[in-house]
Amino acid sequence: MDGVVVARTLHILAVVIWIGGVSMATTVVIAAIRRGDLGSDRLKAFQTIERRFVWQARAAVILVGLTGLYMTAELDLWDRFRMAEFWWMHAMVCLWLLFVFILFVAEPFILHRRFHRWATTAPDVAFAWLHRVHWILLALALITVFGAAAGSHGWLLF
Ligand code: HEM
Repeated sequence: MDGVVVARTLHILAVVIWIGGVSMATTVVIAAIRRGDLGSDRLKAFQTIERRFVWQARAAVILVGLTGLYMTAELDLWDRFRMAEFWWMHAMVCLWLLFVFILFVAEPFILHRRFHRWATTAPDVAFAWLHRVHWILLALALITVFGAAAGSHGWLLF
């Protein structure tokens, strides 16, 4: 079995789990929490769901990074980072770095405590902000997936 085929399959599988979770959180979970559909304690509802998903997201992000780097090295694709038509390669790496920062640095060391305090004192504003940030991350992720799926099969868009 070709190692690149295995890496590509795992890459896509992990992207599906990770970005699918972001989509579900944004369009369903946080929207329901904001409306109070999951109980009046919105912070508890959010943390119950987030606590379980965050580890899936962390594992998926690691797998996406390792398989992505493996494919780049095996196929010797480094030159693409000097060409604008491969903007989706830059987008994949930038999005990945952004999520590594959020999941491994910002969330455990900064956001966890700050958001807890904010959501306790001003829940409406805190959850509106959280929702907006998720929409932005989801939009960036969807553009990246679209560009990468199209670009890696020859449709360069620009
Ligand atoms: C360190 C980060 C990443 C690296 C180095 C990387 C690298 C790669 C490489 C080398 C390919 C194969 C390109 C080709 O065959 O021409 C690929 C495909 C792909 N990547 Fe990434 N990637 C990374 C992160 C991401 C992220 C964050 C996403 C999505 C949000 C993503 C989504 C995809 C998709 C959808 C494909 C197309 C698979 C296909 O249709 O065959 N990647 N990636």
